[in-house]
Amino acid sequence: MADKTIPIIDVSNIDNDVRSVAAKITEACATWGFFFIKNHQIPHDLIQKMFDINEEFSALPLSERNKHPVNKDQVGFKGPGDDAHKDEKSAMWLGGLPGSLSGNPGLHPSLEKHLPAIDAYKKACAEMSLKLLRCFAIFLGLSEDFFASHHRYESSRNLIIMLHYPKFDAPPPKHSARISPHSDGSNSVTILFQSAVGLEVLSPTGEWVQAPAPGFDHALINIGDVLQFWSCNKLKSTLHRITQDQLPWDKERYSVAFFCQPEPDTKLNPIVGDVDVEQMAVEDGKMFRRGMTLTEYIEEEMKVIYGQDFYDKQVQSVPVMAATS
Ligand SMILES: [Fe+2]
Repeated sequence: MADKTIPIIDVSNIDNDVRSVAAKITEACATWGFFFIKNHQIPHDLIQKMFDINEEFSALPLSERNKHPVNKDQVGFKGPGDDAHKDEKSAMWLGGLPGSLSGNPGLHPSLEKHLPAIDAYKKACAEMSLKLLRCFAIFLGLSEDFFASHHRYESSRNLIIMLHYPKFDAPPPKHSARISPHSDGSNSVTILFQSAVGLEVLSPTGEWVQAPAPGFDHALINIGDVLQFWSCNKLKSTLHRITQDQLPWDKERYSVAFFCQPEPDTKLNPIVGDVDVEQMAVEDGKMFRRGMTLTEYIEEEMKVIYGQDFYDKQVQSVPVMAATS
């Protein structure tokens, strides 16, 4: 496998021969942690709808979108420069259990009418993710349903983030990134579609490699920190970024990311072999502890992304949502 090319894996046989697909995915999981899948089963019209919603929402004035900031339910908006790294992007978080978005304080009212499409997209991505999780379990020598049984769709707070990298009237400070180098945290699997190139992935040999943007036929998959921890580093969570060089200030970019999360009460423990927990503290400060639940990890992660006081403020200001509201 070439070191400078993100692998492309055909998953058309995943329903009738999961083991053959698992075999193909194995090397990509252990080396890149990133790979494209083709024949991914996520309907193109749903993907297009999510990009339409993203563009419509991103066209609202920033002051309007800022009225519903992201909260501890992982629902709401954060604009350019609002995260800990001051990244030049905006992000609309659409997290929570299936059917729970309506009426959330973080949801801009203009998105209410799109909830059927958003929920349908979330479900389609979750179904594809569960199939990939079966491949990963096979790869690790576990029972095929080991991971899938901790990601039951109705019980998982899966997350969509609609991202917009706006263009500017003048160059922003050179030191600011479009999105700083990071690995994905609280999820097992990420499914990404993108309108344009710009994303770079750290290759197995330590070089930044541009990810192509080949359209809706190919979904870009990567593994999150949770699954890396769970798998004792056998499944790799890889750094990625968007620099100003890759996406200049006078260009914009849209992407839609789906993050498949374990069920909230899932206890995270290394399951195959052992792992030095201290070494699981990645450079941006996220930290695992043996036996912590996903919910506890998300609290830590949100503090890292949006500042130390984020979670405490939200606990006091946003009512806790009923699980099925
Ligand atoms: Fe990411």
